[in-house]
Amino acid sequence: MAEQTRNDGLIFYVNGKKIVEKNPDPETMLLPYLRKKLRLTGTKYSCGGGGCGACTIMVSRYDPQTKSISHLSVNGCLFPICHLHGAAVTTVEGIGNTKTKLHPVQERIAKAHGSQCGFCTPGMVMSMYTLLRNNPHPTLDDITECLAGNLCRCTGYRPIIDGYRTFCESENCCLLNGSTCNVLNGNGSAENGHAELFSKDDLLPLDPSQDLIFPPELMRMAEDKDQSIQRFCGERMTWISPGSLDELLQLKADYPQAPLVMGNTTIGLDMKFKGIFHPIIISPTRVPELFKVNHRSEGVCVGAGCSMSDLKSVLEKTINDFPPENTHTFRALLQQINLVGGQQIRNVATLGGNIASAYPNSDLTPVLAAGRCTLVALSKDGRRRLPIDKDFFLGFAKTILKPEEILLSVFIPATRQNEIVHAFRHVPRKENALATLNAGMRVWLNDNSNVVKEISIYYGGVGATILSADHACQKIVGRPWEEATLNDAYSALFDDVKLDPAAPGGKVDFRRSLTLSLLFKFHLLILQYLKEKDVIQMEVPQEMQSAIQPLPKRILPGYQEFQNVLEDQSAQDLVGRPMMHRSALSQATGEAVYCDDLPYTDGELVLAIVTSSKAHAKITHIDFSEALKLPGVVDVITAKDIPGKKFRTFTGYDEELLAEDEVSCVGQMICAVVADSKAHAKRGAAAVKVSYEDLQDCIFTLEEAIEKESFFLPRRQIERGDVEKGLRDAEQVYEGEIRIGGQEHFYMETQSFLVVPVGEEKEMKVYLSTQHPTYTQEAVAETLGIPSNRVTCHVKRLGGAFGGKVTKTAILASITAAAAWKTGLPVRCVLERGEDMLITGGRHPVWGKYKVGFMKNGRITAADFQYYANSGNKVDESVLVAEKILLHLDNAYNIPNLRGRSAACRTNLPSNTAFRGFGVPQCMLVIESMIDDVALQLGRLPEEIREMNMYKQVSLTHYKMEFDPENLVRCWKECMEKSDFSHRRKAIDLFNQQNQFKKRGISIIPIKYGIGFAEGFLNQAAALVHIYKDGSVLVSHGGAEMGQGLHTKIQQVASRELNIPASLIHISETSTQCVPNTCPSAASFGTDANGMAVQDACQILYNRLEPVRKKDPKGTWQNWIMKAFLEKISLSATGYYRGHDLDMDWEKQEGRPYAYFTYAVCCSEVELDCLTGEYRTLRTDIVVDIGRSINPSIDIGQIEGAFTQGLGLYTMEELKYSPSGVLYTRGPGQYKIPAVCDVPLNFNVYLLAGSSNPHAIYSSKGIGEPTLFLGSSVFFAIKDAVTAARKDAGLTGPFQLNSPATPERACLACATRFTNMVVAQNEPVSTSGPARPWALDI
Ligand SMILES: Cc1cc2nc3c(=O)[nH]c(=O)nc-3n(C[C@H](O)[C@H](O)[C@H](O)COP(=O)(O)OP(=O)(O)OC[C@H]3O[C@@H](n4cnc5c(N)ncnc54)[C@H](O)[C@@H]3O)c2cc1C
Ligand code: FES
Ligand code: FES
Repeated sequence: MAEQTRNDGLIFYVNGKKIVEKNPDPETMLLPYLRKKLRLTGTKYSCGGGGCGACTIMVSRYDPQTKSISHLSVNGCLFPICHLHGAAVTTVEGIGNTKTKLHPVQERIAKAHGSQCGFCTPGMVMSMYTLLRNNPHPTLDDITECLAGNLCRCTGYRPIIDGYRTFCESENCCLLNGSTCNVLNGNGSAENGHAELFSKDDLLPLDPSQDLIFPPELMRMAEDKDQSIQRFCGERMTWISPGSLDELLQLKADYPQAPLVMGNTTIGLDMKFKGIFHPIIISPTRVPELFKVNHRSEGVCVGAGCSMSDLKSVLEKTINDFPPENTHTFRALLQQINLVGGQQIRNVATLGGNIASAYPNSDLTPVLAAGRCTLVALSKDGRRRLPIDKDFFLGFAKTILKPEEILLSVFIPATRQNEIVHAFRHVPRKENALATLNAGMRVWLNDNSNVVKEISIYYGGVGATILSADHACQKIVGRPWEEATLNDAYSALFDDVKLDPAAPGGKVDFRRSLTLSLLFKFHLLILQYLKEKDVIQMEVPQEMQSAIQPLPKRILPGYQEFQNVLEDQSAQDLVGRPMMHRSALSQATGEAVYCDDLPYTDGELVLAIVTSSKAHAKITHIDFSEALKLPGVVDVITAKDIPGKKFRTFTGYDEELLAEDEVSCVGQMICAVVADSKAHAKRGAAAVKVSYEDLQDCIFTLEEAIEKESFFLPRRQIERGDVEKGLRDAEQVYEGEIRIGGQEHFYMETQSFLVVPVGEEKEMKVYLSTQHPTYTQEAVAETLGIPSNRVTCHVKRLGGAFGGKVTKTAILASITAAAAWKTGLPVRCVLERGEDMLITGGRHPVWGKYKVGFMKNGRITAADFQYYANSGNKVDESVLVAEKILLHLDNAYNIPNLRGRSAACRTNLPSNTAFRGFGVPQCMLVIESMIDDVALQLGRLPEEIREMNMYKQVSLTHYKMEFDPENLVRCWKECMEKSDFSHRRKAIDLFNQQNQFKKRGISIIPIKYGIGFAEGFLNQAAALVHIYKDGSVLVSHGGAEMGQGLHTKIQQVASRELNIPASLIHISETSTQCVPNTCPSAASFGTDANGMAVQDACQILYNRLEPVRKKDPKGTWQNWIMKAFLEKISLSATGYYRGHDLDMDWEKQEGRPYAYFTYAVCCSEVELDCLTGEYRTLRTDIVVDIGRSINPSIDIGQIEGAFTQGLGLYTMEELKYSPSGVLYTRGPGQYKIPAVCDVPLNFNVYLLAGSSNPHAIYSSKGIGEPTLFLGSSVFFAIKDAVTAARKDAGLTGPFQLNSPATPERACLACATRFTNMVVAQNEPVSTSGPARPWALDI
């Protein structure tokens, strides 16, 4: 073929600026290109796999045929730059900024308090911006749909939705509780005495004229269709883009193994995460035939290149064009497509790519197969029409397409008379998640009859490829559609779905039961259809209809109540008022600088870590000779290169920075490769060969650790009263247990470091994302064998931390510093999401056992707890976590005889560390579970047992600290009232009587949470305040800003103390150079400690200024400052706060480990689908005693964010390890944190009025950690719903529901007819022992 090849490079625009890229590297994605090459760092990198939306960018193109411009949100991390020819790219920097003009999308998320750490914010902004470009009048559904692919770990999403709801014309008002509008998003009305969290009056209007115009040059380029082949050669890969179908077929004949890259959502992931390399890639995006859509009388033919979004539009049109009875397949497909990935994925992922990828849980293929769809395969040798059915898919990622064939189009036939198609999908998260199991089912009935002419049932997610349930179909065909027929089919399904106990993906019983329940749902839907058609007379019974009704999903505006400041407080004094996060606008415009946004410096190297692939082994040899030969690789750093201390010591145990002789978990760091680019460093790391000699006796589970007595010491115990006697005196005794899984921090910004050797006197500058700069400074100094005064740590801000950026950060920074030391060059290390999840550990999984004694009236007389925490291979903070577990084991309950024992278990898993709550969320779940069991045992309601046993008067804790629980009791009463608990409990009972397969549950959970560090010295803080001659003030303090709003509150403090507007105060960074010997920003103590230190410094300065103020009482601040300077008054002061003298004596088992307690109570209600375990949180009401809030918007943000993180912990987030200790869940694809779809539909927060706290600044209270546990109210509401389902099944009394209460666990616990069938079918355990499951129960 005579090939006409272009060589004038890629032409595209970025934010209105033309880019000509002569030699683009096909392996480069748009995101790194923008960040590194164009220095547009507003768009963030977080997961790299299309799963989080942090990298959302808008790509616009002109279509010369329709003369229209399309705007698509895409994930920059998966978008190859070579796809960009002729496109206009808009990034967050291109739509507005703080210097000239903000875009309303940026302003509203910031002002509505929807940006905390801000790392997700540019992505949110760009998703919303793209929506508005396409639809300036969106509905709330449009907004939640467009944000479904964007994750946020901080906010809990409510403020983001409320901010963007302001773009909806009809959504700002609701009639939630009847006729009066008492709820307006983000506020109460002025009349009822509540101020607004944000004002909607002064928001910028949406002004399309502000948007960049589409470049005319690109229009011209699109009109002058360029048909020539494009070819780009990179370092390793060649990209060929044919201009015509013939050229495409020729290329496929020439390079049959070369994949076609369309959306790059399969190929991109394979190359990035599975290490699959393609030297040649064919990009057929300019071949028009692949995008053709043909509407015919028998159906619609869709080009294989159409994206999911295109397909959605096509189907919506087709559904309108056909009579409803012919549209069943179209509607079933549309239902699935709407839920494929997030909007960004649907905009690029193609129909052809989805089919050709042939992965087993595609949402489309079961429906296409059931719906009798066909496809056209094309090659130079001709065309084939093939049915999409079980014979098309040969196995995992394999089809019968020949290597030289392409998929041209897919034909979707209209359904015939009496032919019905339905689609089903079960997902671990309601949106933006790959299905656990899905199905397409079709039945064709005889005319005016219920006799089945044809049936087709396909499942996805139960094997290597889609599965046709032939046995079940055989039992149905030719028979009437009725219960007896279906009963035979359910039994036959067991012959179709044969899942091995070790089947990849696990959840074997659940998946098998789902195949049955989905068929049951189909059965009911067909019965409903037959009744509508008058073929049968009987309605689907009322109580059964709940099986086919969808769960509610409409998000209502929430209510946030807080106290107004006193009327006489000056307008300038912002303490107590909602105030936007001080960096929110910078975060929303992409101007906020995170560690990896720092510019590259000359000669800078990038570091990649080599980790252990063995759980327990001797290292026999490390061979990095091949790595050193690779392009760009500069050096390999091993433990031998560390000039100083090679380990960190935690609570008496050493942790090596880099393993030398032995590894004790998969993921342990062994060495590091430094190279001139990230890609080169990663290739270098992959080329390092580590040889091992396996060691026996791996310990993974808590049972194994207990059996082998593998513990980190000391083990603690605490006891009050006489537990044995209390148990003896009790009228009933019950023993129970619960297991709580671990949790990944999933901060959106992964661990990031830049270490710069100054080149003089061994000085090192460390820029990083840490909660504890001083600790890193010490670690780096010790590692390099230099004094601390040569190392300065700089923390501008963190993109989230949640406890995960304290200890592990110091180790990673030390390794990076060792590389910078050895090479003498700046070294940058930014962990990939998967590495971060593997290496840095998370929350400890805990096994809690208890024995409880109680009276028949519900009063608990004694409780004995035993906790085992899976600490992993290194101690880290595990012993301290185990201690904190014991300090909070009582939660809010006054149990006279109480004992707790805890053990930090050493296993061969990656070592766990601090995580928001530090063990408390685990131990409180244990006691609440125990209370539930007491209630179930007595046949009483859990809330009655909770209330009866709660602390009510001034009391002593089990460690003999006196406290007054008055505000706990007030929170309880107020939450009961605000949530209208007793009425709703009755309504729920009624609902549950009327519905067999959907059950509702409600719970109300209290917390008492101690604030402060039991290690007294950690409660101190210092600050440094400078006033410059122009009157502007620079405040430095020891706390790190990680989204919790610390700097904003500090600004409020300084403003009040100096009596100046907050706008005069700036906080630049946290640096060990300005404030030395700082304590970690943790334990919800940041504002308490640093606020006091800043207050001290400001008061010193204010007092120093008194003489000048007196001389010129009417003068301005600026005048006074200038005069003070001229009079030689120092305008700089340090402040210091000694902190509370807290301690805990573990020998005596008593102490005062906390300064005070934060109290809260939360009520949640859920609706559960018992057949699938899916649930929705219908409503959550939270009442929190936070003293007098310094900043209600920030505190409410913390409460909602922590609740949502707790909801994730207790109901969704599951870490899975293989039987050999390998973490499977290494990204948002496998590990699901809450998304927009998980926000309670009605989410209300009330700050308790009339509370004050003498122990903290301005009577406030710490809030970051306590309310995480409130997420457990959703867990217990699910348990309540399950209890109702079990009651229908004749099961009463306590039952064990482990955390997280995933759909799998909730469904199996419901003991429905189908889960029981599965259990009955299970083979008895063979004598040789059970097969090894796919994942460990650690
Ligand atoms: C974050 C994320 C979430 C996702 N969520 C879902 C989900 O919820 N449900 C779901 O079903 N899927 C989901 N997917 C998968 C996604 O739908 C598929 O990856 C996508 O459809 C593949 O299309 P593509 O255009 O990106 O294919 P590419 O990655 O470009 O190509 C994939 C493969 O298909 C081949 N191919 C592509 N087009 C053709 C053609 N015309 N002829 C022959 N071969 C071809 C290529 O050679 C390549 O081997 C998700 C993917 C991601 C990354
Ligand atoms: S970084 Fe691109 S989706 Fe997460
Ligand atoms: S603000 Fe969303 S991740 Fe931090």
